[in-house]
Amino acid sequence: MSAQILDGKGTAEQIREEIKNDVASFVEEVGVQPTLAVVLVGDDPASQVYVRNKENACAKVGVRSLMYRLPKETKSYELCDLIAKLNADASVHGILVQLPLPQGIDEKRILDLIDPKKDVDAFHPENVGLLSQGRPRFLPCTPYGIQRLLARYNIETKGKRVVVIGRSDIVGKPMGLLFLQKGPGGDATVTVCHSRTANLPEVVREADIVVAAIGKAEFVTADMIKPGAIVVDVGMNRVQREVVDENGEKKTVGKLVGDVDFESVKEVASWITPVPGGVGPLTVTMLLLNTLNAARLQTGAAR
Ligand code: GUN
Repeated sequence: MSAQILDGKGTAEQIREEIKNDVASFVEEVGVQPTLAVVLVGDDPASQVYVRNKENACAKVGVRSLMYRLPKETKSYELCDLIAKLNADASVHGILVQLPLPQGIDEKRILDLIDPKKDVDAFHPENVGLLSQGRPRFLPCTPYGIQRLLARYNIETKGKRVVVIGRSDIVGKPMGLLFLQKGPGGDATVTVCHSRTANLPEVVREADIVVAAIGKAEFVTADMIKPGAIVVDVGMNRVQREVVDENGEKKTVGKLVGDVDFESVKEVASWITPVPGGVGPLTVTMLLLNTLNAARLQTGAAR
């Protein structure tokens, strides 16, 4: 039997509608418009698309966005100056520096400069520490989006075996921490696998819930999945595929695929996220929510 689809796009639309209403109430009560500053350095094509998506998403829910598009030759000190300026600007509530930064700029050094109360990505060591201690200020957008998606479908995590594949600071590690938290959406038994994990397929096969975030196209195959498991695919890999067109001619086209081999895994899993239309739209949605919460935090408005 084929798995049911975890509709990230539809879920994101529902949550954005709620955020739009909450932003309108906040503006009415506090007289301040939640504002997100987005900094993009260089001309990485994927980053340009992601940043444009963020700008459009902000506009749709009434969050003001300030876009800083800087050339790839930008010096570290210039970026530091911009962050300092945004930190000091009380009308800016959230700051996001799009990653990756061009070679030669120390990412961690730049991210560490962001005021933790404006760190809507939740990458700052203070926010990572708070999450690790179970008293988060902001939740990292992709893991938070996945937690909300599972909640929308009433998928219980308590007592479940969760395997996260990938140990990145952006997704894998914070995802593991979220599932470990006490309470709804947490209380799971968590394993985080990575490129050095021995017998990875065997470990993944034990999972009730699998989150694939390794950045390798269609890495997770049906033989790694326990029948009935829930599979969440964070991957966004652009690959070239040969297809036969309407005239019977072979041609190569670009295609977006996840870290999960969707066609085979859907025959084994009970629920699965598609790519595109799965996790991606939720990441941007949680950024909007974090920006609203940052504005609440900085204006002293009750949450
Ligand atoms: N690049 C890829 N994903 C992300 C993200 O979640 N935040 C930032 N700032 N950059 C990214």
